[in-house]
Amino acid sequence: MLILSEETQTVNSFAMDVRNGLGQTGQKELPSKYLYDDVGSALFEAITRLPEYGLTRAEERILREHSDDIAEHLVAHGMVVELGSGSGRKTRQILEALAHHKSMTYCPIEISSAALVRCERELDDLAHVSILGFETEYLDGLSKAVARRKPGDAVVVLFLGSSIGNFDRGSAEELLHKIRHAIEPGDMLLLGTDLEKPLTQLIPAYDDALGVTGAFNRNLLARINRELGGDFELSRFEHVALYNARERRVEMHLRSMETQTVNIEEANFTFLCDETIWTESCHKYGKNEPPEIARRTGFECNAQWVDVEWQFAENLFVAV
Ligand code: AVI
Repeated sequence: MLILSEETQTVNSFAMDVRNGLGQTGQKELPSKYLYDDVGSALFEAITRLPEYGLTRAEERILREHSDDIAEHLVAHGMVVELGSGSGRKTRQILEALAHHKSMTYCPIEISSAALVRCERELDDLAHVSILGFETEYLDGLSKAVARRKPGDAVVVLFLGSSIGNFDRGSAEELLHKIRHAIEPGDMLLLGTDLEKPLTQLIPAYDDALGVTGAFNRNLLARINRELGGDFELSRFEHVALYNARERRVEMHLRSMETQTVNIEEANFTFLCDETIWTESCHKYGKNEPPEIARRTGFECNAQWVDVEWQFAENLFVAV
């Protein structure tokens, strides 16, 4: 695989986001994109295999059980661009179904170089698929990938795994608008959305018995120690997953178990006992929401496949 890499996420912007997020008055927060360094990406991969986290398996079931139907919708598309490819495990099912029909280009876009390498390893053996990876942010990668489309090739954008759920609802629609602007009428977007479900199922998915999600969350503090010279004592912070019913989302926080001061390079940050750092939001959708969102963002939802065991919807949007 050819990887085109760009230093868009520098240590400096990480340092600045940490300083701003921990220094602000009121709720302290850190952007969830920083959860995914090499260690965090490996821990996320482990999360997808936990018995409590049914989301990834639900999407894999949909892609497996409806692969012919999905491929029929996408058959005319010669370029597949995936936003946040992860390991590429799910994508194999789509590419295998599509590459039956003709040769194609697959462009995974990732901010984690380790994830891109894993993706290459996973998909390297696929016949008729050439892989061109971009180590950069979603929209930057998307515009670079579509600039390389061959004349007459339609593009399908994959945004799987309910990654859209990690954006606030307003920002999610803004992102979909921007995706729509980067592509042409007739191009498609396959969008995975995790659906609302009982809290007895939802909370353990983000607070598993093995503590992998807790490690994934606390790794953000370890990353600050590693990369920015912080002195977070990880055992003094507890992983918390709570459901915000008004916003219909699971929120991950790190709760300070005592009043303490943390140093990061020259700066000091004080945490009161029980004060939290908000690290991630995972929004859940109603089944009818994706078609409405499609209409508001320049798409039409042409098909939807729903997994019944773990309420999850794969939505096929067509750019209008
Ligand atoms: C990547 N994203 C869709 C996951 C989710 O479920 O929102 C991230 C995650 N965080 C904790 N567990 C999984």
